[in-house]
Amino acid sequence: MRKILVVNSKGGCGKTTIATNLAAALAARGDAVALADADRQKSSLGWLKRRSKKMSSIETLDWTKEGKIGDKEKGLDAIVIDGPSGLRSELAKTLIAEADDIIVPVLPSAFDWGASLKFLDGISEIKKVRKGKADIHLVANRVNRSSTQVAELEKRLAKKGYPILCRISDRVIYARHAAAGTGIFDYNDARSSDVRGQWHPLLQAVDS
Ligand SMILES: Nc1ncnc2c1ncn2[C@@H]1O[C@H](COP(=O)(O)OP(=O)(O)OP(=O)(O)O)[C@@H](O)[C@H]1O
Ligand SMILES: [Mg+2]
Repeated sequence: MRKILVVNSKGGCGKTTIATNLAAALAARGDAVALADADRQKSSLGWLKRRSKKMSSIETLDWTKEGKIGDKEKGLDAIVIDGPSGLRSELAKTLIAEADDIIVPVLPSAFDWGASLKFLDGISEIKKVRKGKADIHLVANRVNRSSTQVAELEKRLAKKGYPILCRISDRVIYARHAAAGTGIFDYNDARSSDVRGQWHPLLQAVDS
């Protein structure tokens, strides 16, 4: 069973968007998957409530309280965890120390670089990450085609030894799916195949 944590100290960078779409992607291909919400805002729990029973099934785990972590893990292929904002809480540290994969969404905005780089330094201090037992995957989110900032972000991250694994475009389709309790992998429509394609490096990384 693989624990995939989506986390960054920066609010609004796309943690819930990535956690919900990733859980739906794994469920769509037949994995036994749970989505654990470890953020007090409970956005992933809300999304799961909106999800129709007709869609591929995703188990709900409420990890908003520390005592609940590790609850109901039997028989699952993967748990996708929507992480809390901030590294200071014990909850965040416990989750990082236990994760097999750590996905860090970063917005290509100068206001986010500093905080995200500091956050990456912070997680590198945590034992399991330091020993190289957890893989860190950086996702540039809300990338705009005309933006030059993603190249600058990439340069800054590369200096620290963190390559960007994939780039996810800024598209309204994500807000629509968020409202419907669905994800981009729940439908195989040709119109959004380019959007799904952007996720393939991430899906491969959490498989290897
Ligand atoms: N790739 C994207 N394209 C368009 N909109 C996006 C994208 N990713 C996220 N958003 C939107 O940006 C907003 C913030 O995203 P999200 O809620 O996933 O971030 P978060 O990191 O979970 O935030 P919080 O720190 O509040 O939990 C949401 O309105 C979401 O729909
Ligand atoms: Mg969130």
